[in-house]
This record gives sequence, C-alpha cells and structure tokens, in this order.
Amino acid sequence: MDIFDKIDQLAGEIDAFVIDGAETMEQFRIKYLGSKSEIKDIFGEIKQVPNDQKKDFGLKVNALKTQAEEKFDAVKESISAQSAKVSYAGVDLTAPTESISLGGRHPISIVMNRITDIFSRIGFVVAEEREVEDDWHNFTAMNTPENHPARDMQDTFYIKDSTINLLRTHTSSVQSRVMTSTKPPIRIIAPGRVYRNETISARSHCQFHQVEGLYIDKKVSFADMKQTLLYFAREMYGAQTDIRLRPSFFPFTEPSAEMDVWLGTETESARRLTKGTGWLEVLGCGMVDPNVLQNCGIDPYEYSGYAFGIGIERSAMQMYNINDIRLIFENDVRFLKQFSSLI
Ligand code: PHE
Repeated sequence: MDIFDKIDQLAGEIDAFVIDGAETMEQFRIKYLGSKSEIKDIFGEIKQVPNDQKKDFGLKVNALKTQAEEKFDAVKESISAQSAKVSYAGVDLTAPTESISLGGRHPISIVMNRITDIFSRIGFVVAEEREVEDDWHNFTAMNTPENHPARDMQDTFYIKDSTINLLRTHTSSVQSRVMTSTKPPIRIIAPGRVYRNETISARSHCQFHQVEGLYIDKKVSFADMKQTLLYFAREMYGAQTDIRLRPSFFPFTEPSAEMDVWLGTETESARRLTKGTGWLEVLGCGMVDPNVLQNCGIDPYEYSGYAFGIGIERSAMQMYNINDIRLIFENDVRFLKQFSSLI
C-alpha cells in the first residue's frame, strides 16, 4: 500500500475510534500517541518517500498527529469529569468526619527521651546497640570473665548454638561496643531494653530499660562524674534535689557507687517507693575499671573515664504513679491512653 493511502486510512481509524471510558482512552493513547504508536512508525518511513513528495508527506503526518491529539484532549476532559462525578456520587462532603484519635508516647519512652535529652545538652551523643549480644561484649570485656560469681547477679537468657548467644543483661554492653570501635574522647548516652531471667511480679520483670552513660578522656575524675550526676538529678527531679552516693560494687567500675535522690517522706507514694527512707535509688556508677579499658584497646595509663547505668522503670513508676511494673509491658490501651497528652 502506498504510504499516503496508509495515512488516509489511519486518519479514518482515528476518527472512528470510540472512546467511552478510561480504559479505551488509554488504549487510544498507546495506539496513536505513545512512544511506540503507529503515527511514530509512519514518521520513521520518511526515508522511503521520494524527495519531491517529502514536504507533502511531512504536512500530512503532522496533521494526523494533531488530529489524534485533539481528539484525545477533547475526550480526556469529559471523561475525567465524568469519573470524578461517579466517585463522589451519593457522598455528602459537608458531613462531619469521624475524629481521629491521636497516639501518644509510651511512658518508658517519655522518661528515656527526657534522660537522653538532659545529657545531650552537655554534649553526650546517643548510641544504640543490639539487644542480642555475645558473651564477650556483655560480660568478658566488662571484666566479668566466665565463672565469675558476678554473672549470677544477672540471671541471663542464653540462646543455644550461637556465638551471639544471649540477651543483654544491661546496657553496659554498649560500652564495650563503642570502646572497641571508637577512639577517645568518648561521650555517649545509650538508652535501651535489657533482659534478665527474673520472676515476674508487681515490682520486677524479665525485661526492663536502662540508659547507659560513658565518658572517657584524659584526666577524667570521680569529681567530674559526681558533678555530672548532680546536674542530671536536678534537671530530672527538680532544682533543689539532693543526691547521695553509696559505695557499691560492679565488676566493670572501680570505685563503684549507687546514687540515690532525695524524695522525702512526706507523701504516701514517696514513702512507698523509698521504703520509708526518703531516698530513691536511681543509678549505678563508677570509674571505668582499667581492665575494661585494656580489654577494649584503650590505654588505661593515658585515659580514664566514668560510666553509669540508670534504671528507667522505677523512675517512670514514681513519676506517673504506676503501681505495677507489668502494666508497662501489657500495652493495654486504657493504660497507654493516659499518657497521650505527654511528649
Ligand atoms: N550495668 C549496671 C547494672 O545493670 C549499672 C552500671 C552501669 C553500673 C555503669 C556502673 C556503671 O546494674
């Protein structure tokens, strides 16, 4: 067939093509306007047209293209108006919507965020690490070798047949992770969940949360630690808050201490939480044991540091008057909803 006849034939086809909906509109677009359309094919045939007819050919194909485009644009508007009409038919756009209830943060997240925030303000950087750990990072590097009695202090969940073989029992495992991968000065704050195989009751659970802090640099002293912790206590519990440090023991710090904050004995809940003493135990701390620095490849003759681990559940329970730790992990919406206006 002569190429000019073909153009005429296509013009007839375009004219006759019935577009009656979105589907046929798309078929039309592909057939005549798409990148592999029949009109494109015809353009490609210009090489075979004798020179004296090339001009005429060009005009005709362009006209064909315009014809297809115009037809497409014309139906396009009416079809999309039509489909819009269909989808809104019978819908009352002025009707009030159902209210969307806002979510809220979990009380544990609120307290953890608050603590990390307080330390960020004095230059601590957030570090997060795995909850499934190996023995070395959780215990050995932290100066608690195998058969060390202190391993019994923390009843561990082990995972069979794996080198990554336990659920971390404290966020102190983040200390060894960071120390082995970063050069001092180190100043991190590490919030996270930890696990211990303990009987679940109103006061203890097999999972809970800690925020770990670690500061390593040249000439870091116990006084630096004490002042930093006092700053923390006053930001967290109020500007007048008093603290006390009691001597304690942890394998990875020497000397070690536990820090209490003074809640007083005036209110019923303060008395209950402090067992009548007025002092609430909030964290364990101490100077990083030189063995730990050595294990993690940091020279203990050049560097020193302090570390602390803050328990979250007890503070959250004190702040929000929660009387049973199990509520924290049950995710009962009636419990969680009470925190939805807090951040
Ligand atoms: N890891 C200790 C615990 O879980 C807390 C701690 C952290 C103590 C850092 C000293 C230094 O009880």
